[in-house]
Amino acid sequence: MRIGILTGGGDCPGLNAVIRAITRKGIQEGDNILGILHGWKGMITGQHEELTLRSVSGLIHRGGTILHTSRTNPFKEEKGGDRVLSSFKRLGLDALIAVGGEDTLGVANRLHKEHGLRVVGVPKTIDNDLSGTEVTFGFDTAVSIATEAIDRLHTTAESHDRVMVLEVMGRHAGWIAVHSGLAGGADVILIPEKPFNPDEVAEFIRTRHARGKNFSIVVVAEGARLDTTNSEGLVVQSGELDEFGHVRLGGIAHFLAKEIESRTGFETRVTVLGHVQRGGSPTAHDRILATLFGVKAHDLVREGKFGMMAAMVCGKIDAVPLEEAVRELKTVDMDLYEIAEIFFG
Ligand code: F6P
Repeated sequence: MRIGILTGGGDCPGLNAVIRAITRKGIQEGDNILGILHGWKGMITGQHEELTLRSVSGLIHRGGTILHTSRTNPFKEEKGGDRVLSSFKRLGLDALIAVGGEDTLGVANRLHKEHGLRVVGVPKTIDNDLSGTEVTFGFDTAVSIATEAIDRLHTTAESHDRVMVLEVMGRHAGWIAVHSGLAGGADVILIPEKPFNPDEVAEFIRTRHARGKNFSIVVVAEGARLDTTNSEGLVVQSGELDEFGHVRLGGIAHFLAKEIESRTGFETRVTVLGHVQRGGSPTAHDRILATLFGVKAHDLVREGKFGMMAAMVCGKIDAVPLEEAVRELKTVDMDLYEIAEIFFG
């Protein structure tokens, strides 16, 4: 078979491990593997390169994606769906494997349903917000990086008797914040799923300081919302929307730090972790998960199970319909958040 692979949306550690796994397994079974460049954009322009054993050698530990990525939405282009289909034919493809999050896989699902595209999905995102799978690769690496940042902030916070506010990514889900906050022993964790009141945050910090702790660590997800203010209570960098209609989040930590300082009088500093969470080498967990997902995606192609996505279900590698994966965001389990709350203040 001639199989194309594309990586779309924000990059994440483990993408290269998936590309390597699909290519190695495919070539072993006599397939030709084609790397489509720049996500869905490459399926419009036809930009591609042959993947060989040589081109995927030494990849498993490398972050980013050798195929590059973009947030291109073919359905925003004139006759975008048809153009993807003609590239598919022109490139002589028998199948396409799309590696991405809700946006990239949402496009895959639509192209499969409306145009009959022979596509299989692989879930990736540091945000861990895709339904249908218990976990996405990239998440473990992002949590490890954020946890290390919290550990480092602890020592400087303690030395200076300061409050440190750490802003982490995750878009509209608080998975990175809860997991890194729990692992790092944060004193308050704020997530989009539970709008917050700055008075309550200040109270947690005051209580903590009253029992002799002169520093505090607050972890805030970029999508955390105030329980009052504007319609959505979101702090955004600009009102500009990407091709999938998302605003660019970021800046909540600066806002929150001022609110904390003015209410408590404690010196407060901000760290916005940003893209560091997405860069560099994947953890061993993410390398393995990405490899298993890649192998499963190739199996799905070989079995002709188009419109499906490799997934982790009940701790096992399985497959679910793309439709299920993109139907709604997988947000933080509130039982988990309640456990995290035990350690606030
Ligand atoms: O979806 C991954 C993610 O890193 C989000 O956590 C974040 O909001 C967004 O992408 C940032 O996007 P960009 O890389 O376009 O700034």
